Amino acid sequence: MKLTIIGTGYVGLVTGTCFAEVGHHVTCVDNDAGKVKLLREGGIPIYEPGLEELVKKNVAAGRLKFTESTAEGVRNSDVIFIAVPTPPQPDGSVDLSFIERVARDIASAMTEYKSPVFKSTVPVKTGEKVAETIKRYCKAVVEFDVVSNPEFLREGFAVGDLMKPDRVVIGVRSQRPVAAMREIYEPFKAPIIVTDINSAELIKHAANSFLALKISYINAIAVLCEAAHANVQEVAHGIGLDERIGRRFLNAGIGFGGSCFPKDLSAFIKIAEQIGYDFRLLKEVQRINGEQMERFVKKITDTLWVFEGQKIGVLGLAFKQNTDDVRMSPAIDLCHRLQKEGATLRVHDPKAMDKAKAVLSNVTYVDDMNDVGRDCDALVIATEWDEFKNLDLDRAKKALTHPIMFDGRNLFDGAEMEKRGWVYKSVGR
Ligand code: UGA
Repeated sequence: MKLTIIGTGYVGLVTGTCFAEVGHHVTCVDNDAGKVKLLREGGIPIYEPGLEELVKKNVAAGRLKFTESTAEGVRNSDVIFIAVPTPPQPDGSVDLSFIERVARDIASAMTEYKSPVFKSTVPVKTGEKVAETIKRYCKAVVEFDVVSNPEFLREGFAVGDLMKPDRVVIGVRSQRPVAAMREIYEPFKAPIIVTDINSAELIKHAANSFLALKISYINAIAVLCEAAHANVQEVAHGIGLDERIGRRFLNAGIGFGGSCFPKDLSAFIKIAEQIGYDFRLLKEVQRINGEQMERFVKKITDTLWVFEGQKIGVLGLAFKQNTDDVRMSPAIDLCHRLQKEGATLRVHDPKAMDKAKAVLSNVTYVDDMNDVGRDCDALVIATEWDEFKNLDLDRAKKALTHPIMFDGRNLFDGAEMEKRGWVYKSVGR
């Protein structure tokens, strides 16, 4: 099928590329001329494993192209996916100005039946409002159907998540666009559920909030484990084998971050408030997440005692593994807190150092992870990159003034570290 995607951020670019990969002809639209130029020249604005090869392959095959013109995108397809940002406002609610702008642009370019499909995470009832906007700004008298089709991909695993989705959710106001949506997703061989549009919008916020809740739950258990001399990883394993609970998203650490969970939680709390429900459960999820970071910083400052003037090596800057994204990164937050306490930092991340430079200054960026600890008083693990498990522990131990490690992601085995002569502190163990 011929498809158009408006917005080439994480969601838009990966979605467009994967649609092309299964055989659709895709036009990706972005109003950022620099980004369109870069993509046309074969460059990729983000780091996402496997994406670059797929973009190149599908551009070469003539199934994927990039333009700045929304009108061209609207002309090229009856189904127009919208994947523009929905950033948070200071009060936690969602800024829908990009969505509104795109709705107007689509409306003014429409001359025949179209289905604008929302991939961006939006508050419940946005689809209804967008339909009113399109009706208001569409000069021609044409029919259209607004659809909600929330995206569930994780950064760092986006291509895999998109090619093999757990489910596809299609929220509609009428049955007319359903056949086309089913045809688009047919090659992905995933369960498809068709709901009313408000339910589809709610599913996305409800899913992300539940996952964040799971993380805060295990972080709260980690506090208990520390007090009771138990091991949170064994507890997570023991409860996670119950299929009703599941082991995934039960990794204790320094809390969740990124451009989705913190924003979506605040938005969902705000949406609930506007509908007349005080979502105290989710407020508690936020509180536990904030406290988790404070507790970890306290663990470091308590151990190193007179903190001012200490030099600390930090491994990890991205908000999680496999990405260069540092938005709302707990690792960056941790660095800022350590700096505020008076520490000097040497930092390393396999992919996120360039992006970190814009938000983290007065630190030494180190290219080799094995060199981060040089002349430092302690090492801190802040992001769950798998490759940190391959750290040369003997070299690190020699480079440090004292072999102390604070592992905020539980990557190493405590007994093994102690056997090797480390003072090793992790989370909930
Ligand atoms: C999240 C959801 O997982 C996706 O399903 C969703 O589509 C996406 O938001 C979105 O709304 O676009 P993402 O933000 O890429 O995806 O990252 P996650 O893998 O969910 O991790 C979020 C944070 O939780 C990270 O800081 C990570 O370190 C932390 N985390 C995750 C834990 O602390 N413990 C865990 O067990 C899992």
